[in-house]
This record gives sequence, structure tokens and C-alpha cells, in this order.
Amino acid sequence: MKRIVSGIQPSGTLTLGNYIGAIKRFVELQQSLPDCEFYLFVADLHAITVPQEPSEMRRRIRDVAAMYLAAGIDPDRTVLFIQSEVKEHAELGYLLQCNTYIGELERMTQFKDKSKKQEAGITSALLTYPVLMAADILLYDADAVPVGEDQKQHLEICRDIAIRFNNRYGEFFTVPEPLIPKVGARIMDLQDPARKMSKSAESDKGLITLYDDPASIKRKIKSAVTDSLGLMNYDEEAQPGLANLITIYSVLGGLSPEAVVAKYQGQGYAQFKEDLGNLAAESIGALQQKYQEIIASGRLDEILDRGRDAAHLYASRKMEKCKRKIGLGRIRK
Ligand code: TYM
Repeated sequence: MKRIVSGIQPSGTLTLGNYIGAIKRFVELQQSLPDCEFYLFVADLHAITVPQEPSEMRRRIRDVAAMYLAAGIDPDRTVLFIQSEVKEHAELGYLLQCNTYIGELERMTQFKDKSKKQEAGITSALLTYPVLMAADILLYDADAVPVGEDQKQHLEICRDIAIRFNNRYGEFFTVPEPLIPKVGARIMDLQDPARKMSKSAESDKGLITLYDDPASIKRKIKSAVTDSLGLMNYDEEAQPGLANLITIYSVLGGLSPEAVVAKYQGQGYAQFKEDLGNLAAESIGALQQKYQEIIASGRLDEILDRGRDAAHLYASRKMEKCKRKIGLGRIRK
């Protein structure tokens, strides 16, 4: 059976980018691929590669799990769990580090960006982060990993690590395919369409979070940077701000970008922005309502316990085999 695996870090407020690039997509796959198994986790071990306030972190871990469920993750279809509760992630991460070169980690764009931002106190875990991510994926023999565009390079190194391990020790890990959406793989900052919309952005003006109220969502879309051409086109090069808004409309409204362009052809941007503001406020409002229901239902812990046990069952077997393959442990007489 094919397995699909993904995760999100609880390292800041979830954004519309996370929702469009990853969460919504995962839900659609879960619904459209009845023959696949799904594993989805809150990547808390990844979040601590940069400093986090412990009580804040613990709250955010629950938040991400609840938001997954609010978005339509079905705990009977998807094994939903918290990464640090399945110790094999860290354990396999170490074994894979023994098969990964510092040079290839230093070339990772995200490492270069993050270490530039954080001049002092760059942890060694920030460098080895992609190896832990490879462990998250290889531990479950994932065939496919749905992620946004920014994770593509991490998926490539994961594939390299798996292939290298298999060459060295014999076929063992499944080499995963990235599943990157054609539309919505990179939602951009509304104030600076050259930059990715990110939970760690300094200003929240260009950032729509999944916790924003309807008025601020509408305001942020209204003030989104576009251009002075006044022409409805889907052109990421020439009109990146507008193209970003068309992408958001397209995914939330279930229309192709071309259909969105056709719908607003001949009109100025104002009407389009107003409609998009309403659409985004409605979509996020519905998500928030479900989120509140999940929190109030008191079911979250039971779901996460069940997910942890199912994930651990798979992971522990794979881990045992992996250790044997490498030659760790004792010969049993
Ligand atoms: P993270 O937590 O930064 O982001 C979670 C997911 O959201 C996607 N994403 C976006 N998609 C479109 N537009 C954006 N502006 C945008 N911002 C974020 C990301 O591509 C990602 O799919 N290392 C991962 C978490 C992780 C993981 C894994 C993912 C840890 N282990 C194993 C897959 C498999 C990360 O930091 O994602």
C-alpha cells in the first residue's frame, strides 16, 4: 500500500501559505486516494532548532493538531501525531547523519537564509535539520510527500540520503516523490510579492494567518501590493502581486487561475480584491469555527494518543530492521 507523509512545524502562527500549500492539499489527497495510508505530524523537534518559549510551544503544538482536524483531516484515515512522541524520528535522524555530508547540508538554501538571519548562536541542529526531515519520511517508507515549493530541496536531499543508504546496505528505504501543487506551491507576502509568505515574517501586514479576524483579512487583501497596469493577467513575472492574489482566489474558490482572470476581465482590481477578501474571510472563518468545535469536543488527546501508538508501531519495526542492516547491536545466539 502506498504511504503519504507530511508535517508542519509549530514554530509560529499558521499562515494562509501553510493552508494552501500543504494542509488543504493533504486533505484533498486523503479524500481522493482511498488506497493510500496517510501519516501527518506536528514537527515539534524541528521547531526547536531555533529558540522557542516552552509554554508557547506546547500551546502551538496543540493548535497545529487542532487546525489539521479543522481543515478536514480525518483521524480514521490519517495517523495524526506529534513528532517528539515517537522517539524513532530522532533515533533514525542520528543514523542518517552518519550517511550525510556536511557539504551537502551547508548548501541548503533554508540553512543559509536562517543562519544569515540569526547571526549568533546557530545550532548544529539547524544544519542537520534536513536529515531529521529525511528520517520523518523514510521511517514510514513514504512514497509521496506533499509540501510547498520551499521544501523541494529538502526532499531532494532526502532522496539522495535514501539512495546512498540503499547502495551501501542494500535496498531498504523507499525513495519518496515530492508532491508539489501546480497552483499554490508558493504563496507570497502580500506587501512584498518577491518574498514567501512566512510565519516568521517581521511584519504581519503581508501575512494572513489562520487566526485573523474577517476585518483584518479583508484589510490586508485590500492593501496588497499589485501594480499600476490595471490589467487582469496571470503573469508571475510581470505582475507578481496580482498573480499571487489570483492564485489564492483560484485555490480557495476552486477555479483555475485562467477562469479567475476571465471572471474579472475588464474590471479594475478593486472589485476583485473585495471579492477575494470576502472569500478568504469566509474560508478562514469556517476553519476557525471548526477549530473551536475540535477544541471544545475534548477529543484531541484521544486522537493524538491513537496516532502516536499507530505511528510508533510502524516506526519501531522499521527502526529495528534499520539497526540490523547497519550492524548495530548484538549477534543473538
Ligand atoms: P513548514 O512548517 O515551514 O511549512 C509547512 C508546510 O507549508 C508549506 N508552506 C507554504 N506553501 C505555500 N506557500 C507558502 N508561503 C508556504 N509556507 C509554507 C511548506 O512547504 C510545508 O509543506 N521542514 C518542514 C516540516 C517538516 C516536514 C517533514 C514536511 C518536517 N518534517 C517531513 C514534510 C515531510 C517545514 O519546515 O515546513
